[in-house]
Amino acid sequence: MTQMVTWEIRDGIAVLTLDNPPVNALGQDLRAGIWQAIEAAGADPAVQAIVICAEGRNFSAGADIREFGKPPVAPSLPDLCNLIEASAKPVIAAIQGKALGGGFELALAAHARIAQRTAKVGLPEVTLGILPGAGGTQRTPRLIGAEPALRLILGGKPLRARDAQAMGLLDGVVEDGLVDAAIALARNMVADGKPVVPTRARRDGFHEPAAYEAAIAAARTAQDKVPANPDLPANSRIIDCIEAALLLPFDAGLTFERSAFEDCLGSIGARGLRHAFLAERRTAKIPELGTQPRAIAHVGVIGGGLMGAGIIVALMGAGLAVSLVERDHDSLVAGLERIADIHENAVAKGRMTAEARDEQWARLKGSADITTLAEVDLVIEAASEDEAIKTALFRQLDSVVKPGAILATNTSYLDINTLAAATSRPGDVVGLHFFSPAHIMRLMEVVVGAQTAPDVVTAGFALAARLGKVAVRAGVCDGFIGNRILTAYRTAADFTLEDGASPAQIDAAMRAFGMALGPYQVSDMAGLDISWARRKRLAPTRDPKARYVSIADRLCEAGRFGQKSGAGYYSYPDGRVGKEDPATQAIIEAERAAKGITPRSFTAEEIQRRCLAAMANEGARILQEGIALRPSDLDVVLLSGYGYPRWRGGPMQSADEIGLLELKNTLLAYAKETPEFWRPADLLGELIKNGRHFADLNET
Ligand code: CAA
Repeated sequence: MTQMVTWEIRDGIAVLTLDNPPVNALGQDLRAGIWQAIEAAGADPAVQAIVICAEGRNFSAGADIREFGKPPVAPSLPDLCNLIEASAKPVIAAIQGKALGGGFELALAAHARIAQRTAKVGLPEVTLGILPGAGGTQRTPRLIGAEPALRLILGGKPLRARDAQAMGLLDGVVEDGLVDAAIALARNMVADGKPVVPTRARRDGFHEPAAYEAAIAAARTAQDKVPANPDLPANSRIIDCIEAALLLPFDAGLTFERSAFEDCLGSIGARGLRHAFLAERRTAKIPELGTQPRAIAHVGVIGGGLMGAGIIVALMGAGLAVSLVERDHDSLVAGLERIADIHENAVAKGRMTAEARDEQWARLKGSADITTLAEVDLVIEAASEDEAIKTALFRQLDSVVKPGAILATNTSYLDINTLAAATSRPGDVVGLHFFSPAHIMRLMEVVVGAQTAPDVVTAGFALAARLGKVAVRAGVCDGFIGNRILTAYRTAADFTLEDGASPAQIDAAMRAFGMALGPYQVSDMAGLDISWARRKRLAPTRDPKARYVSIADRLCEAGRFGQKSGAGYYSYPDGRVGKEDPATQAIIEAERAAKGITPRSFTAEEIQRRCLAAMANEGARILQEGIALRPSDLDVVLLSGYGYPRWRGGPMQSADEIGLLELKNTLLAYAKETPEFWRPADLLGELIKNGRHFADLNET
């Protein structure tokens, strides 16, 4: 027996303890260990029943995700579940923490389940683009029927122990003394003397076949309302499997489930979602890891605009004390009103209690005097995106805040090193780049300057974790990671626009790709004036020979700043729904005519290929410049900050799916038109030469 499973006999009951840190994932060693222990306990005359419990915070996080896609090694999880279920001696699962996916399927195969009150159980496989593949779709409906089983498996959300008990998934819930309670239950079952009833033989969920079939039909109708995605088949296959549970004998149902599981596992969507899961956990692996972060209890925020107010709401929600500083009394009042509006809205929608709002509000102070920030542990500057204003603020902060306080800027583009140089303490300066609305968006780029101290970097990551955000480490460059890739995406879209496509066509193509919104819808929402100001700032340094699309400038000159001005790429006669606008089309056509461009047509697939190639190529440049640590960090930025479809895993994962040679050849073909933009990054050639993919750089 491997060391991952230990067992002892207590009062005639074998207590098996799973011990595979950090989350008792059911990798091959653990499966083999459980298998041997179950067989040994079954053969031992001193054992009358078996309790399976676990060491650590969680019972089990399920199958080991890192084994997916590799050749299977026996014993398989379905076989292990069948072995447990077939045991003549009662098997009881004792669940603490989380029992998820295969971990809960293992428990479902036991003859009884008992959990600690704080435990959660669930089948979240759908969030990884797959379905429960170890009997979960067959055993769950046998216990609780189709409708709750569909809710659990399609929803993917874990249930609290008491709720799971009420549904019939658990046989008992205890406050504490979990293992003793499981042993007591085992003793009772032995004393009862009745043969154990395997879950496969249970019929509790089949009592009303008509209701069962109605639930299946309702799920299919709901499913038909969302556009089918052949790259993400999990949802529809889950419904098939739950239906099969009623229609097929158990073993045939298991075979059906297995084949559906394997179909899903091989889908692009499953690979993308699995990549996203692991990528999000990898971002925290930074060179500074292990350095004790500077403590943060009180934060000063400069600027109560849209961004500053969102940041403050996020900080207050995480229990921090916050001091807002604005440039004058009127701006301060406006900032406080913005914060109050967000809170009122949350209370009105039932997302926050009035008590929580009052408690949070009590931790907020406001002032028009920057010297009130003398005692804060961190300042987040969220003033206007103007280098002179920000540099002056940093100079002032240097003389105001206490030694050791962190000076952070929320700049989207400006050079952190320039701001750091305005202070006498460049080691304390860092970029904390939030995304708007900052109390909602999950992403935070932690921008590390040339002299940023390691404990300032780890403090940025610790703050993100406290705010429930995912932090990604970025180096200094224009736009850091996200906005740099966005610029490349927009440039590719603009070339396509100027060459013949319409904004609506490009937006539709990118929505069909899976983006939450198309690039021109995003521009209209964000406001065209902000990027116009930036383009004007960069104009003197722009390569005059480089291709430059002026359509956005012409729209701005015509006062079309997007939704807020009633017109941008689209017009907004009814408020927020954009309509194609002949005036925009006229501007585009005039630009084409001025440049002598004969418009040509583009398919949706071509538009998608161009935009993706631009994003992945810019990503490769960011990597070769050392701005990001690894390709999967870029993916996390695009997934959590820019609406890239999670099931595609991010642009670097998409590039791996396409194949890097194919990507390079596509870029070379486009480079014939506009070489300076489309030239393939050197890194691409390096990877191709060595037969490697972006994914290979994630593990280094
Ligand atoms: N397989 C492999 N590794 C896993 C894992 C899994 N199922 N679940 C978590 N891990 C790893 C994480 O990658 C992370 O690794 P690093 O330390 O190297 O970064 C580590 O365990 C800790 O994970 P978290 O940071 O997520 O820890 P947490 O305490 O915040 O959350 C958790 C714990 C709730 C269990 C969470 O990890 C989680 O939700 N895990 C995935 C659960 C899941 O989706 N299970 C279904 C698996 S598929 C399946 O089981 C298919 C089947 O039917 C056969």
